[in-house]
Order: sequence, then C-alpha cells, then structure tokens
Amino acid sequence: MENINWSELTFGYMKTDYNVRTYYKDGKWSDLEVTDSDQITLHMASTGLHYGQEAFEGLKAFRGKDGKIRIFRMRENALRMQASCRGIMMAELPVETFEEAVIEAVKRNLRFVPPYESGASLYIRPLLIGTSPQVGVKPGNEYLFVVFTTPVGPYFKSGFKPAPYLILRNFDRAAPHGTGTVKVGGNYAAGLHAGEIAHDKGYSAVLFLDAKEKKYIDECGPANFFGIKNNTYITPESSSILPSITNKSLMVLAEELGMKVERRPVPVEELETFEEAGACGTAAVISPVSRIDDLEKNKSYVFGNESEPGAVSVKLYNKLRAIQYGDEEDKYGWVTVLEV
Ligand code: PLP
Ligand code: COI
Repeated sequence: MENINWSELTFGYMKTDYNVRTYYKDGKWSDLEVTDSDQITLHMASTGLHYGQEAFEGLKAFRGKDGKIRIFRMRENALRMQASCRGIMMAELPVETFEEAVIEAVKRNLRFVPPYESGASLYIRPLLIGTSPQVGVKPGNEYLFVVFTTPVGPYFKSGFKPAPYLILRNFDRAAPHGTGTVKVGGNYAAGLHAGEIAHDKGYSAVLFLDAKEKKYIDECGPANFFGIKNNTYITPESSSILPSITNKSLMVLAEELGMKVERRPVPVEELETFEEAGACGTAAVISPVSRIDDLEKNKSYVFGNESEPGAVSVKLYNKLRAIQYGDEEDKYGWVTVLEV
C-alpha cells in the first residue's frame, strides 16, 4: 500500500494512478478508456466552460477489517447524475456505464484505498461536462465523462466534533425552480461568496434558507441538514436542495433505531427546539452542529453540549460507518463489494 499518513489526510486532491473516461459523440458513448494523465484537453469554446454544462458526483470506497473494498450506494449516484444531466440538458450516461467506470477507477487505484484502522476512505469523483465548441447558448452535442479518485479524511476540519454554522440572509444558493435539486457546478459557484464569509468568521459552513421566503431551512453548504427532537429525525423538504444519499440512508437507519422520521419544511424558529443538529453528506458523513448563528436577527441556536456530539448523532454515525466498512450486515443492499 502507498506510504501515506492516512490518519492525517484532509479532504484534498492527491494524484492517484489512473482515471477512467468515456466520450459522447454522434449520439453515443465511447468504450471506457483508462489513462494515467490527470489533465484533460478542452476546446476554449466548450459549453462546459461558458454555459455551465457541468455536473459531478461524490461517493466513497472503504477498506474493511476483512480487507475487502466496499463502494457505498453507487447506483444512487448514477441515477442522480442522470437527473443532473436532464436538469442542464446534457447527454445522460447509462447507469451500467457509470457503475463500470466507478469500479474500474477504484480497481486501478487499490493502493490508495486507506486502511481500515485509519478511518479514511477513497473519494470517487465522477464528472460530466459539455465539450462541444459553441458560442450560441444551447445544449452541446459532445460530452466527456471522467471518474477520478483521491484518498480523503474529514471534509470539515472539526471531523466528528461539533462545529458552528452561519445563516446569511443576503445570499441564496438556489431558487425554488432553479437547479438546487441537481448536482451542477453552478450551484457551488453561487454558494462560494457566502461560504468564504462564513469561513472567515470561523464557521464551518453556511446554513442556507429557502430563497423565496427566508422562512425555512434549506441545507448546509455541501451537505443536507437534520435536527433531532423527541426521538424524531427531522430533515427539510425543499425544492432547492440536493437529495442527499447519506440523508436518505440516515432516515432508514433512524427508523431502524425506533425513531420517527419527518421530511417536511423546517421553519428557522424550530431550531430552538432541536436537541441535536447535524450536516450530512458523503464528504461530511455526519458533521454535528454545535451552534447556528443568525447574525441579521441577532439570534443564536445552541444544541446540547456544544463540545460533544449528541447521543443520537453518535448512534447514527456509528451505524452508517459500520455498514460502509462492512462491520455490520448490509441488509439494505447498499454496498458493492469489489471482486479483486
Ligand atoms: N447537498 C449538497 C449541496 C452537496 O453537495 C452534497 C454532497 O454531495 C450533499 C447535500 C450530500 O449528498 P450525498 O449524501 O449524496 O453526498
Ligand atoms: C460530497 O459530499 O461528495 C460532495 O460532493 C460535497 C462537496 C465536496 C462538494
């Protein structure tokens, strides 16, 4: 295995051995190609560069105690990428091709899958972009799909320690009928300014509110939001947030733990009543929220003991990780075990 200080890994890019690509031209996708170059050549008039025809995914592979490598809920990412392609008029990639490319990308970089004990994982980043040269604003007719991998540690430097989040009422990430429900680069560009303000003030990320009324919680920067009270897992329903695969999994696990699950609009004032709160996503896993500051309203919401994750968050985190690393039975069929 690679000589890396696995337990010190952050969420950054590290070159691995190979990436996997396919090109869409004349109405069809090419056979998969494997390359060791981490560069791509793009026409300067590509629709991906000018008109934001770009979508990506994020998923992870884990090395278990048994040495086996498991990829978590890959099919869900394939389907969500298809939804993103429909959202911004790009050619859809077949689910099977997505899965084949992801498996190939992991198999070609096995020495970068972190050891079980490190708690780190191999992040898998599929990317689909418009490559045809065009200056008129219309969907392109050529695309590139590429899957690369990079070993990662925690997304937020606090890891599984609670950290504060910030509400900024004069920034929006996505509009109710916009592209918030799909994973396209433009959403992240729209969130950068607010995100940097939050970081500069010492917060983990921004907690975005619904853009129309500023009454309801949307999501936390690169993750969904959940709150816990009265043995209930509560997470926003909104037409401007990404349907998180981690959140969907946590809802199932919460039910398994005997909790009620509510997916519905969550008014900002309800934060007052939560015993625990968290950000959840592939990169974030569960990142407990210590406090949410609503500066414009001069209000702070504090959750439980600010310095320790709450008991329910700990249970959910442990259960999710146990399934991902193969310590607990995969009874929902969420895991693809690699044949190597
Ligand atoms: N919300 C946003 C905006 C994200 O970028 C992500 C990360 O993919 C999530 C939520 C969490 O989604 P998932 O759990 O599928 O990774
Ligand atoms: C993920 O959780 O995979 C994400 O894509 C979040 C972020 C790194 C953009």
